[in-house]
Amino acid sequence: MHQPLALLGGKPTRSKPYPAWPIFGRAEEQRLIRTLRSGRWGRLQGPEVARFEEQFAAQHGCRFGLALANGTVSLRIALLAAGIRAGDEVIVPPYTFLSTASAVLEANALPVFADIDLDTFNLSPAAVAAAITPRTRALIPVHFAGQPADMDALMALAKKHKLLVIEDAAHAHGASYGQRPAGSLGHIASFSFQSSKNLTAGEGGILTTNDQALAEACRSIHNCGRVPGGVWYEHHVVSGNYRLGEFQGAILNCQLDRLEQQTQTRERNGRFLAARLAQLPGLYPQKRDDACTRHSYHLFMLRFLAEEFGVPRQIFLQALKAEGIPCSAGYGFSLHHQPLFRNKAFGPFLPDDAARLDYTKVECPNSDLICSRQCVWLEQHLFLGRRQDTEDIARAFERIYEQRAALCEWANKNGAMPAATRPANSSRRRTNGRGRKGVR
Ligand SMILES: Cc1ncc(COP(=O)(O)O)c(C=O)c1O
Repeated sequence: MHQPLALLGGKPTRSKPYPAWPIFGRAEEQRLIRTLRSGRWGRLQGPEVARFEEQFAAQHGCRFGLALANGTVSLRIALLAAGIRAGDEVIVPPYTFLSTASAVLEANALPVFADIDLDTFNLSPAAVAAAITPRTRALIPVHFAGQPADMDALMALAKKHKLLVIEDAAHAHGASYGQRPAGSLGHIASFSFQSSKNLTAGEGGILTTNDQALAEACRSIHNCGRVPGGVWYEHHVVSGNYRLGEFQGAILNCQLDRLEQQTQTRERNGRFLAARLAQLPGLYPQKRDDACTRHSYHLFMLRFLAEEFGVPRQIFLQALKAEGIPCSAGYGFSLHHQPLFRNKAFGPFLPDDAARLDYTKVECPNSDLICSRQCVWLEQHLFLGRRQDTEDIARAFERIYEQRAALCEWANKNGAMPAATRPANSSRRRTNGRGRKGVR
């Protein structure tokens, strides 16, 4: 006889919390105090930000690094530095955080959405090819969840059409593709150090590149348009102050010392969980691209096919949380459905001919499908523990699957079953890696 699911009154699979995030200790304390006492709190005075830029860039295969206030302005500055102009088009995925597209608007250009691949959740090269117009100037692939996008195909397209490629590597600290680290795969890359990220100082960002001219242009824009060798009150381009402070630099230097070991742990645990979950019907962990030599597992993502697993996603997530496994459905809808795009509420950033783009007509069915019905997210800090901690996640999934009939009965009785998605209480075996025809 099974112990009932925690949602039905049983003992949870796990009662111990997962490692909290961020992780810090005496190293951070000492470095912050040293910075405080030095009185050198700005990057133009102190050593911390400069040291961090150098080390982070080197670890990510680049000669140049430029720390910034966050991973949104970094994208915008990369676009401005590359000469993107009003009305230019920049291709972005619809399955991403707002900034990937809003940074394009704030650079006075227009984001054009191209769908993702249903198995990897990354920008589909075929969809990008179909979205290219004579106005396309750049594309921003996101290494979603920490798996590098299909950069070989995307760079080939970029070369053919003379496009700039900005990697949005906000999730991909320490990830790699073939022999090369994320951050060195496009022309320039942007990382974020916002609170949830695999490397964090609460806020912050960095651009990495091997292109000296781009690096210098970005540096000037981030520092009020100043240029090397110029004097303090000498400003050459429209720009602002997007500098990172020394306290954040101090924390980032300590966190960077922890990154390699944490990335190895996440990768080990993430791979283990992916292999275990793939054994169960209806669970399709993010497909690993052959070229992905290291996944940074900012998120562990999977497609959850209710029809095969036998439980609606909403009920499943409730049950998984009750088992002591924090989880979510991720984005509720694709980015282009935001009111911002539907209403073209672009404020001063509306090119005269923006009428040619109607975001209510954009079609990205793969992104829509995983948002509305299929995606499940587990956050990176769950993967910083031991094998046993990941084993608990696998056991919770397995337990829910074994007791799916009781769970559905409970949901029906308690009026919790979502009417529109009520599945047959199926025990069908999975058919192939992409789900049955019609299930999507
Ligand atoms: C994919 C992606 N791009 C860009 C950003 C923006 O970074 P930030 O929050 O540092 O501005 C984020 C995260 O927050 C993100 O997840």
